[in-house]
Amino acid sequence: MATKEIRVGLIGYGFMGKAHSNAYRKVNQFFDVDYRPVLKCLCARTPEKAGAFAQRWGYEFVETDWRKLIARDDIDLVDIAVPNNLHKDIAVAAAARGKWVVCEKPLAMNAEQGRLMVEAVQKAGVPNMVWFNYRRVPAIALARQIIDEGRIGRAFHYRATYLQDWTINANLQQGGQTLWRLDAAAAGSGVTGDLLAHSIDTAMWLNGPITEVAAATETFVKERTHAESGKMQPVGIDDACMFLARFENGSMGTFESTRYARGRKNSNTFELNGSDGSVHFNLEDPQWLDFFEYAQKQSGMKVEDHLAGWRRIHVTNTEHPYMDHWWVPGCTIGYEHTFINALADFLKGVQTGQAAQPDFQSALRTQYVCDTVLKAARNHTWEQVPQV
Ligand SMILES: NC(=O)c1ccc[n+]([C@@H]2O[C@H](COP(=O)([O-])OP(=O)(O)OC[C@H]3O[C@@H](n4cnc5c(N)ncnc54)[C@H](O)[C@@H]3O)[C@@H](O)[C@H]2O)c1
Repeated sequence: MATKEIRVGLIGYGFMGKAHSNAYRKVNQFFDVDYRPVLKCLCARTPEKAGAFAQRWGYEFVETDWRKLIARDDIDLVDIAVPNNLHKDIAVAAAARGKWVVCEKPLAMNAEQGRLMVEAVQKAGVPNMVWFNYRRVPAIALARQIIDEGRIGRAFHYRATYLQDWTINANLQQGGQTLWRLDAAAAGSGVTGDLLAHSIDTAMWLNGPITEVAAATETFVKERTHAESGKMQPVGIDDACMFLARFENGSMGTFESTRYARGRKNSNTFELNGSDGSVHFNLEDPQWLDFFEYAQKQSGMKVEDHLAGWRRIHVTNTEHPYMDHWWVPGCTIGYEHTFINALADFLKGVQTGQAAQPDFQSALRTQYVCDTVLKAARNHTWEQVPQV
């Protein structure tokens, strides 16, 4: 029974503000956790829009300045769902006030900011998490289980792609709602921080630390009108990024991301190939995990040749990660559930003292890989990833 109220202050009511609000409202309906989120205060700059969102989702109060939200005594948890250039200041201030802090990805604009955020939450000793929600896709969590069970054997190759097509139009502006992603001053980077951060978090969760990278980036549209100045300005983000990686376990990785893959909307895939098996996942088909078994774990015996082949696992059984909280076998869950699963893990982590991952420290490792990828692209060299 969820008896302990946790009063939520959400900053930002866009795409993620909606996904998180839905998670706060649903988590106690599907998971047994001691804490019960209460939608206390919503912060956004425009009072009318903030008021409408607050009414729709049931927030009790509205603030238009995030500093005022943090100063409130009736807020226990601060949720950062705003553009990347605001993450650091909000997280540091919230931690200093003793609030729990959950922050959207990427952790920060760069690792330097990320380090300050880690220091702030560690100094304050407050629970913290970054919403890398794809770890909570049941099929991806099943891939992790299969790897942990030793069914892949020695890892050789990790291959990830994250492809979209929504910025091909050269007339799109940079800056403003949604299009802040095209403005380096608000986003920090382009696809590297926005999309590859997800791929990197998943990759390191499944296959361990990345130690060195070589990379190439491209900006296809060099200038765009800025929404705020109204002037044509150079585009400072990477529209596409490809990088090669070496993992600590000796395996090799390739990562590709772009917003110029016509027809691809949110195509996020990975494949891991090992000595004893492989796994493959595609977010556009999220309830399926593909598994190739070469050797059986218990006996180490090779699967007989006439039976060998890729197996498609429909990840909806109660035995599969998270699925015992949802519907009967065969019924799927969707994108929004990954946030509910993540929130449940976070609250359980606070309850048990086993912090849910990725916390800020773990997300900082991903941030270091992102920074090093961009450095390698600038320098046209292999670069070592700092290990923290
Ligand atoms: N986990 C994921 O899969 C995922 C998906 C999308 C976005 N994100 C991340 O979530 C964050 C937000 O992205 P989004 O897609 O929700 O963006 P969005 O543009 O849809 O919403 C951003 C919100 O921030 C508000 N905002 C901007 N400046 C503000 C300020 N100074 N004070 C208060 N509110 C302010 C905007 O009004 C808007 O409500 C980003 O860090 C992004 O990288 C994560």
